[in-house]
Amino acid sequence: MSVSTSVAHRPKRVFSGIQPSGNFHLGNYLGAIRNWVNQQGQFDNVFCIVDLHALSLPTTRETLRANTLHLANVLLAAGIDPDASILFVQSDVREHTELCWLLNSVTQYGELRRMTQFKDKTSGKNDEQVSAALFDYPVLQAADILLYDTELVPVGEDQKQHIELTRDAAARFNARYGETFVLPEPDIKAEGARIMSLEDPTKKMSKSDASPNAAIALADSPDVIRKKIRRAVTDSGSAVVAAPDKPALTNLLTIYSLLSGEPVAAIEQRYIGKGYGAFKSDLGEIVVEALTPMQERLRELEANPELSQIALAAGAARARERAAAKMTVVRDRMGIGIGRS
Ligand code: TYM
Repeated sequence: MSVSTSVAHRPKRVFSGIQPSGNFHLGNYLGAIRNWVNQQGQFDNVFCIVDLHALSLPTTRETLRANTLHLANVLLAAGIDPDASILFVQSDVREHTELCWLLNSVTQYGELRRMTQFKDKTSGKNDEQVSAALFDYPVLQAADILLYDTELVPVGEDQKQHIELTRDAAARFNARYGETFVLPEPDIKAEGARIMSLEDPTKKMSKSDASPNAAIALADSPDVIRKKIRRAVTDSGSAVVAAPDKPALTNLLTIYSLLSGEPVAAIEQRYIGKGYGAFKSDLGEIVVEALTPMQERLRELEANPELSQIALAAGAARARERAAAKMTVVRDRMGIGIGRS
């Protein structure tokens, strides 16, 4: 079979990752996880719990282990099917760290220094509080993506710059050593790619927000969800409309629309003359309804921890096979690994 025939008929290769750091929230779900699940049948998927990335900020052995296993259960509860998709933990496939080092040689200090996430995560800290891992973080992310000949990377808006850096590093490597890496495309949806904080709609919903009311955690109880939505900040006025000068309502309407499947315009119509109270109360119920079945599955999975462990072991074995084959080519191109049999 010629290369062009096989490319035309096979599903696109997808890779995406999520950090096991803290509370997974509605932004992670709507911006990433839900799209992974919805597109599962369409693509050849590799989904990774990026525990090595989580080492870029201080953590402990117990916290990292617990967060990693919890995240595996969250992903399975959300609908990732470990038979259809490869689901694994990054540190179980050592090729990620090896390729990270090799890609460091085609990544520039200046481009890493310009990364918005690096600037955000280091702002207000002095240099001694910032790990070298935080600086090098996007190169490990590039290694994750490039190891699997990834074509599409489904992520939220905040990851766009990291994927551009991945493309630049891959292009530089290919120019220096010959065609080796596929240049990946970001898959960022028009809606839901940037869910904002419930307390400040100019900031994205984030795992690291100090205030617990800024984000809806995927594990929040129905009462907590209702309360957080009731307390969510709104814009001046009382009309339920999405508009550039109404960032809070736009955010809440986006969440409503994505979880109910109704277009924003239809929701706006229904709330004409009804005010924020009725809208927020219905939105609370919609979020509860969307998260409850997932939470029930999560409880079942947490009562049977061997299920996720079996899935992760099988996923790591499949990922390792692909990663090892790719690294054989990369080492050869770079003239390293000469003594390996
Ligand atoms: P992480 O763990 O911060 O986030 C996981 C995914 O959730 C998306 N996301 C959001 N989407 C919409 N609104 C929000 N408020 C919101 N907050 C987070 C993120 O865009 C992401 O898709 N560096 C990555 C992990 C990573 C990765 C990779 C991703 C490592 N290697 C390779 C793709 C490919 C990160 O920290 O995501």
